Amino acid sequence: MICCQHEHYTPTATGDYGFEVDGARIKYGRGVLREVGEAARALGVTRAALFVDPHLRSMEFCATVEDSLREANVDAVVYDEITVEPTDASFKKAASFALDGKFDGFISLGGGSTIDTTKAADLYATYPAEFMDYVNPPIGGGKPIPGPLKPHIACPTTSGTGSECTGIAIFDYLEMNAKTGIRARELRPALGVVDPDVTRTLPPMVVACSGFDVLSHALESYTAIPYTHRARVPKGVARPLSQGANPYSDVGCVAALEILGKNIVRAVRDAGDEEARERMLFAAVLAGIAFGNAGCHLPHGMSYAVSGLVKEFRAPGYDLKEALIPHGMSVILNVPSVFRFTAPACPERHLEAAEKLGGDTRGAGPHDAGDVLSAQLIELMKATGIPNGLANVGYTDVDLDALTDGSFPQKGLINNAPRETSREQLRDLYANALTYW
Ligand SMILES: [Fe+2]
Repeated sequence: MICCQHEHYTPTATGDYGFEVDGARIKYGRGVLREVGEAARALGVTRAALFVDPHLRSMEFCATVEDSLREANVDAVVYDEITVEPTDASFKKAASFALDGKFDGFISLGGGSTIDTTKAADLYATYPAEFMDYVNPPIGGGKPIPGPLKPHIACPTTSGTGSECTGIAIFDYLEMNAKTGIRARELRPALGVVDPDVTRTLPPMVVACSGFDVLSHALESYTAIPYTHRARVPKGVARPLSQGANPYSDVGCVAALEILGKNIVRAVRDAGDEEARERMLFAAVLAGIAFGNAGCHLPHGMSYAVSGLVKEFRAPGYDLKEALIPHGMSVILNVPSVFRFTAPACPERHLEAAEKLGGDTRGAGPHDAGDVLSAQLIELMKATGIPNGLANVGYTDVDLDALTDGSFPQKGLINNAPRETSREQLRDLYANALTYW
C-alpha cells in the first residue's frame, strides 16, 4: 500500500502543480550482457569507447561485453583509468580521451564511478565546453546541455547506485574539496543493461554498502518533500530533476524497500544466494528510477562530507591503498539519525518504510515512527557488519563543525528534505550519528 496518497499531495498555493516522469530504458536478466553489441548497433554505434573499472578487466563478464561488440562489428577502444571517487581531473582526462577518439557511442561497465565518468566523457566530447560550464550551480555555471548526447549503454556491476537510471554524474571538485556534480536529463544513459550474473563475485562489504545506498535512495525519495510543497517554477522546462516525492517515484520506492527488507542480509551473508543477490540488483533499478525522478535528501547531502574528510578508515573488501569510506557506508551511517529527525513531517511514510524493511510496527503510532524506523535500520546495519556510527569510521565531536561546513552548501539535497534544516540541526544530525549501539 502506498499511504496517504491524496493528503500527501494536496495542492498548495505556491507549490508545484505537476511532476514529470523520465523513464529509464533497461534490459534486465541473467545473460543480457551478451546483448550489448547488438544493442549498440541498434543505437547506430559503430565505434565505441568502452569504459571499464580497472578491477574488472580480468573478469569473464568484461570479455563477454567485448566479444558481443566484436560479433556486432562495433569497434571498441577500452578506457580503464577510472578513479573510485571521480574528480574534476579524472572527468577531464576521460573527456579528453573521448574527444580525441571520435567515438559515436559509449559503453560503461562498472559501478557508479565508471558510469558517471562515462556520462561526463560523453557530454564534453559531444558538446565541448569549459569544464565548469555544465556543473551544478553555485559551484558551476549550470549551463543547459544543448541537445542529446551520443548513445551510452551503462552496465552496472554493483547492486547499488542506480546510475544507469539517472541523469546525474557526481565528482569531487578538488580546488574546493567539495562533492558536486552535473545534473541533466540528457545525461541519462540511452540504455541500462543489468545482468545479475555480475554480482556473483562481489565481497560481502561491497554488497552491504551498495545495498544500503539503494535502501537510502528509496527511503530518501519516499520521504522527500512532496512535489506539491516544493516552490513552483516559473516555467515547466525549469522543473528540477530532483522534483520531490511524487506518485510515480513512490511506486519504485515501496517495491525497492520491500525487496531490500527481505534480501539485504541474505545477499551480504551468502555470496552463493543467487536469488537474494539478483533481487538486490532489481531493487537498485527500482530505487534508481525513483530517485532519478524525486531526488535524495539529507543522508546523501551529509555523506559527501563523511567520505570527503576521511582520515584512516579502510573498508574491508575494498582493494585500495588510500583511506576510503565507501559511498553507501558514508550514506547509511547518517540514516538512523536523519529519519528520527524527519519522521514528524510524514510519520505514516516512516512507519510504512519500517514495516517494508521488516520492522515490528505493531501498536506503533505517529510519535513512534522515527524510533521504530531507526531501530530497524540499526538492526540491518548490525546484521551486515556496518560500523557503529561515524565514531567507528574515525570521527569524533571535534569533527562536527567540519562535517557540517562540508555539507551545509549541498542545498539541492538539503532543501529536498521534508523539513527545513538549519545549520545547527545539521550539526545535531551528525552528533546523533556518532554511535548507535
Ligand atoms: Fe547514492
